[in-house]
Amino acid sequence: MKVLSGIQPSGQLHIGNYFGMMKTMISNMENSDLYVFIVNLHALTSVHDREKLAAGTLEAAADFLALGLDPEKCTFWVQSDVPEVCELAWILSTVTPMGLMERCHSYKDKVAKGIDASHGLFSYPVLMAADILLYQADQVPVGKDQKQHLEVARDVAQKFNNTFGETFVVPEPFISDTTAIVPGLDGQKMSKSYGNTIPIFLEGKQLKKKVMAIATDAIPVEDPKDPDQCNLFALFKLFATPERLQEIRNLYVNGGAAYGYLKLELLELISDYYAEARQKKAEYMADPEMIRTVLRKGAIRAREKAMVTLDLVRERVGLKY
Ligand code: TYM
Repeated sequence: MKVLSGIQPSGQLHIGNYFGMMKTMISNMENSDLYVFIVNLHALTSVHDREKLAAGTLEAAADFLALGLDPEKCTFWVQSDVPEVCELAWILSTVTPMGLMERCHSYKDKVAKGIDASHGLFSYPVLMAADILLYQADQVPVGKDQKQHLEVARDVAQKFNNTFGETFVVPEPFISDTTAIVPGLDGQKMSKSYGNTIPIFLEGKQLKKKVMAIATDAIPVEDPKDPDQCNLFALFKLFATPERLQEIRNLYVNGGAAYGYLKLELLELISDYYAEARQKKAEYMADPEMIRTVLRKGAIRAREKAMVTLDLVRERVGLKY
């Protein structure tokens, strides 16, 4: 099975990215044909700073490698290194109904948050469909925020297949129930644009500051509380062992859950969880040429696959004359 997903290099990657997508991708390395890429062309819809984009691209790659992605066991590349994706995006845009695009909430949400309303931002889902269809992916692990984009990719694949004959695999999203929406410090979805993230590689005082800022209620310590309504507990679910999680659940239910102490415990869990990756990231960041070599090799492999699909697409639509 072909499993594919991408991530934007538009800031420090956070634990929502990790549990929503990166961890699933890394765990798929052994048993699937895995495609992982850094979507720098998508990031251009919100980042207009060349140094920031270039550095962010290398850093996102270092993050993935440090977290355990083995480039020998997958195809790992930077989106813009396979320019075929742009040609496919254009071809797909000619069969994408305007109504479908107008219904996409992520465009409206981003504009509401102050991102410039550009044509690229509007057609973002078509480029994403091209990302997926170019590699004939069967399954796409994502967080819930990408569900609608996956629906667009499926609709566009079906529309193309109906118009020009069976060409594309219609991809399935994979959204895990437990990590579909990782909450941020304030309980809303963790997202860079809400300023409520816990970056994966934060440590020491900075990490402490974030964890201590997790919003909690003002119910007295000894009173019972509902763990499933608590944002702090939701984060514990990601890091605590099942036994410890049950103990903490009991504290909530029976009274005695002291948020201050629990936050310090969570801080230690997060810090330990990423300790090895933090070390590895420092090593990768010290050798950017090595990261570039890995990505270049990945792009060569990705491009070979991309060209096969694009060749078929050109033939199907009549661009071969
Ligand atoms: P991006 O870069 O915003 O996020 C990368 C992945 O992290 C997931 N995610 C979350 N999951 C759970 N809880 C959260 N709080 C949370 N925050 C982020 C996202 O759902 C995503 O899976 N459009 C995509 C990138 C993309 C792509 C693709 C993905 C471009 N082409 C092709 C799959 C296939 C995006 O902006 O992800």
